[in-house]
Amino acid sequence: MIRLRDVWLTRGERVVLSGLTIDLPERRVGIIGANGSGKSSFARLLNGLLLPDRGDVRIGALDTRADGRAVRRKVGFLFQNPDNQIVYPTVGEDLAFGLRSHKIAKEEHAARIAEALAARGLSGMEDRLVHELSGGQRQLVALAGILILQPDVLVLDEPTALLDLANTRRLMRTLDAQAAQIVMATHDLSLLDHFERVLCFEDGAIAFDGAPDAARRYYVERNA
Ligand SMILES: Nc1ncnc2c1ncn2[C@@H]1O[C@H](COP(=O)(O)OP(=O)(O)OP(=O)(O)O)[C@@H](O)[C@H]1O
Ligand SMILES: [Mg+2]
Repeated sequence: MIRLRDVWLTRGERVVLSGLTIDLPERRVGIIGANGSGKSSFARLLNGLLLPDRGDVRIGALDTRADGRAVRRKVGFLFQNPDNQIVYPTVGEDLAFGLRSHKIAKEEHAARIAEALAARGLSGMEDRLVHELSGGQRQLVALAGILILQPDVLVLDEPTALLDLANTRRLMRTLDAQAAQIVMATHDLSLLDHFERVLCFEDGAIAFDGAPDAARRYYVERNA
């Protein structure tokens, strides 16, 4: 269960999130809202990448401020821009880095990497240079790097923004099959049916909270 209590976040002079209090027990939560409404900021709070100026963010029994390391282990985070995620020059090295940092036995690495790549349609790409991949391929590598660690919670910031239709569908099927709790920000309203509950952010607050159909109607109406 994700639990926020009176969470305030400022960046520079700007109040980015203002007094959010919400419990998210659902396994599939979607986040929509205009550019700059606070989606990425909210997502970053959930794995402790950002800490609130005031209030608490809890993931199960963990507090993001007090238990940062444990939170980052429990919550896999996919950045809006995959270049923020990938640190090693080759695909295989990058995936191995995650496994090492999670203390996965070295003998398991090659098989787990091969499996994670195959599941993303990237078989045999271990030795490819990341900077030579397309944007969508990089996003899929970043996703593989997270799923390979089997986190309990997956927070995804616009994971389909760079993907074509086939890869978008494949990604959503992959996510549907995950045991993890999923929180995903998206501008693609056609994906909302994958969620049980959808939050719509406006100016750093949750302006709508409800079922996918109603969320879509609300958002379209607001932008009419
Ligand atoms: N490091 C920062 N310094 C100052 N302001 C910031 C910083 N990061 C974010 N902001 C501001 O916080 C607000 C929310 O940004 P955020 O990235 O959370 O929006 P978003 O809903 O994810 O938008 P998008 O749909 O464009 O990804 C914006 O007004 C943005 O300018
Ligand atoms: Mg964003």
